Amino acid sequence: MTPAQNFNEEIFVTEEVLQSSHTYAPSDAFRVTANADESLYAEATDDREGFWAKQAAELTWATPFDTVLDWSGAPTARWFVGGRLNVAYNCVDRHVEAGFGSQVALHWIGEPGDSRDITYAMLKDEVSRAANALLELGLVAGDRVVIQLPMIPEAVISMLACARIGVVHSVVFGGFSPAALRARVDDAAAKVVITSDGQYRRGAPAPMKSNVDEALAEAETVEHVLVVRRVGEPVEMTEGRDLWWHEFVGGQSSEHEAESFDSEHPLFILYTSGTTGKPKGILHTSGGYLTQAAYTHRVVFDVKPDTDVYWCAADVGWITGHTYIVYGPLANRTTQVMYEGTPNTPHEGRHFEIIERLKVSIYYIAPTLIRTFMKWGDHLPKAYDLTSLRLLGSVGEPINPEAWLWYHENIGGGRIPIVDTWWQTETGAIMIAPLPGVAATKPGAAQRALPGISVKVVDEVGAEVAYGESGYLVIDQPWPSMTRGIWGDPDRAQEVYWDRFKEQGYYFAGDGARYDEDGDIWLLGRVDDVMNVSGHRISTIEVESALVSHLAVAEAAVVGASDETTGQAIVAFVILRGDSEAFSDDNDVIVAALMKHVSAEIGPIARPKRILVVPELPKTRSGKIMRRLLRDVAENRTIGDTATLADTTAMRVITESLRSNS
Ligand code: WTA
Repeated sequence: MTPAQNFNEEIFVTEEVLQSSHTYAPSDAFRVTANADESLYAEATDDREGFWAKQAAELTWATPFDTVLDWSGAPTARWFVGGRLNVAYNCVDRHVEAGFGSQVALHWIGEPGDSRDITYAMLKDEVSRAANALLELGLVAGDRVVIQLPMIPEAVISMLACARIGVVHSVVFGGFSPAALRARVDDAAAKVVITSDGQYRRGAPAPMKSNVDEALAEAETVEHVLVVRRVGEPVEMTEGRDLWWHEFVGGQSSEHEAESFDSEHPLFILYTSGTTGKPKGILHTSGGYLTQAAYTHRVVFDVKPDTDVYWCAADVGWITGHTYIVYGPLANRTTQVMYEGTPNTPHEGRHFEIIERLKVSIYYIAPTLIRTFMKWGDHLPKAYDLTSLRLLGSVGEPINPEAWLWYHENIGGGRIPIVDTWWQTETGAIMIAPLPGVAATKPGAAQRALPGISVKVVDEVGAEVAYGESGYLVIDQPWPSMTRGIWGDPDRAQEVYWDRFKEQGYYFAGDGARYDEDGDIWLLGRVDDVMNVSGHRISTIEVESALVSHLAVAEAAVVGASDETTGQAIVAFVILRGDSEAFSDDNDVIVAALMKHVSAEIGPIARPKRILVVPELPKTRSGKIMRRLLRDVAENRTIGDTATLADTTAMRVITESLRSNS
């Protein structure tokens, strides 16, 4: 099945999205000091490449580039061709050389309450030690290192150490299972894995190293595992393979001369779910990625390096952490907060307590967390002094106007801008967002492509829709931080992202969008088989594959059903095998086992919220599962149009069997 055929669902336009038209203009005080003004749009339109060259010139290049963009190999771009730079040097050393060594880079706060302040000078020493350690392990530029670490400074240090020596990192979120980790290690043929003994999760240490050991059993490419001691639990160290970070990295010299790499040298791979079962390794390179990371961080978050305290509460295991904890903020010499734990440990006011204590001025989170805060209650933000905040951001999923307004009132005190930022792992950096200080913001709208970026909302055949209409979001011009392809499968990016609107040469994002009457853009969610659970992308097919790999399951269909807190929740429909009774004759036992099985196959983040045992699944005449109808069931709606259904009794059988089960 081609991705174009996958593209099956109607676009949802919620009442809420349509209703709100009130706008919030920035204060004059914000406007006059803002990093960006309206003229940036015209400047970028007049001379796109000149505009991007100017942004790139904010970085320090060892060798200047001679060509801004080479699009001759479309859809694989080359940006800042001929230029050479060192990404880690740009994020760390140059700030120390400019006299800012004593500025705090990271105010790190551990879940149990311990903390570390790491200055740019300290970061330079730590990154140099780690780089020397990786070199001693025999790594050379172009090799791959997999990093699975909790939110501790060593995660940032490891990423920068790789970048410093031209080694490609692949960070794997801590919530992925050993099987998922192993798949990523093998796909990238990683030589080194960096992990920790364990991680704090809701107040207690949870294992990490033992999961890595399980993942690496007989892994062919891994020569060494570096282990950070975080929780102090005993772990097994494999002789000759495993090394303690504090001993091996700690014993290295803090001197390391950073060499430069080509602008197109690979920087990292990050795996993300698509419309097929196998996650794709999204490749990003150096010069273009860092340029757009730093530029967007500067204009969208209006960062003032001398005075702001910035906090992006993502995990470094996702693209948001890569671009807006590591590369963008550090390239801009930002002082930031890095927090290890969950937002309700040890209490539900934890984030607000941190904002008050560290006088956080810029705060960037996902709508799912805003909705969680709403559930926990207004009294929590009210109990803390949040007046240090001057800008709020949102990312990862459409923000419903209700959540936007709550965020605006209860965290922003009704006085500061909110930037809703739309982007993807593949885009590398923010693409659509209002510029604070310029835009009058609209609750729920990401509004407008950034200066230098061009997007459109188009219909089925690629024609731009009129204002007031919905369609598919496409990107019609190359951009510096665009993915350079899928690791190990160079031709696949064309098919996945570019074939849908091949004639027009548009990148198809997989999202539905709408222009309002002013031409502002509202994101409407995915239009393919990708779910968005708490801002995390999970493919329906990946979860289906995990389910059918269980002995008791004959067939499975998975849908993302709307959920008040997590945006979408995973709901699975399974048909059991005739002989599943050999496994158990109790459906509850089977369902519990299947939940556990999915966690083990992919990770706890993919565990379905509900698994429903059904006798049949609704299919089109061509045999494709009609997820739309299943979503109706999962969301307790009346079943929609069944005209294309091969056998209309299927839905009746399903609803009846669910009714009699409940
Ligand atoms: C969704 C996360 C609406 C979208 C940075 C996209 C959003 C997917 C927004 C990418 C937003 C992200 N409004 N939807 N502001 N931001 N999305 O790769 O569906 O983890 O395609 O990147 O998240 O998820 P990813």
